[in-house]
Amino acid sequence: MTQSTAETPGLALDQIGVRFGGLVALDGVSLRVPPGRTVGVIGPNGAGKTTLFNVVCGFVAPTSGSLTLDGRPLRPRPHRLTRLGIARTLQGVGLFAGMTVLENVLVAAPGKTDRAMAALERCGVGSRAQELPGKLPYALRKRVALARALVSDPRLLLLDEPAGGLGAGEIDELRELIEGLSCSVLLVEHHMDLVMAVCDEILVLDFGRPVAHGTPAEIRNDEAVADAYLGAAA
Ligand SMILES: Nc1ncnc2c1ncn2[C@@H]1O[C@H](COP(=O)(O)OP(=O)(O)O)[C@@H](O)[C@H]1O
Ligand SMILES: [Mg+2]
Repeated sequence: MTQSTAETPGLALDQIGVRFGGLVALDGVSLRVPPGRTVGVIGPNGAGKTTLFNVVCGFVAPTSGSLTLDGRPLRPRPHRLTRLGIARTLQGVGLFAGMTVLENVLVAAPGKTDRAMAALERCGVGSRAQELPGKLPYALRKRVALARALVSDPRLLLLDEPAGGLGAGEIDELRELIEGLSCSVLLVEHHMDLVMAVCDEILVLDFGRPVAHGTPAEIRNDEAVADAYLGAAA
């Protein structure tokens, strides 16, 4: 039985294209993130991962194609994401340097100190609530950013390179955190091992085009992926 986009629960991207002037950053990219699932987008630098992420966040308007959320047309705008049940962390960290860790999380949940503290505890940084983020090691700052995304209790969490700049042990801890989430997750990530470990399915981009889509096991054995993504390591 075929399922039309109109009946699809969760997030669906259909034939998304993005051009920056003459540069084709995305071309014919379709993707579904069903409720409760973790979907990864991988690919080499410049493949279009962040552009795809920005389309879902509303930072970039697609030149072609459409998005739906639970079957309804979705026109994302950054300031409307929370109302739609969507939260995100950005590549890097993006915390307010002049605010404490707790105040940074409260930005996403004004007046909800208990919930902000719970989100910080859940991300293992509750004891740092009163410190300025600049005093924390990079890995902990990234956890504060994750706590700020989780405090709104999103049904869809968007993560852009959450493992970027982390060491192997820190990536293991991040993996456990992601595995413990009950919301759906769109994980844009350069780090292959993390994506393979946490994702139900994976889309591989190369030069803005989908080159493979499947389960981690399918992606691991895909020759096009080996060429596009692992070629540099060979
Ligand atoms: N705002 C922009 N203006 C022009 N080109 C852009 C812009 N954002 C990204 N690009 C280009 O689009 C391509 C995809 O970039 P990006 O989505 O950042 O890739 P990735 O996140 O996979 O490394 C690259 O060639 C990049 O230089
Ligand atoms: Mg990127």
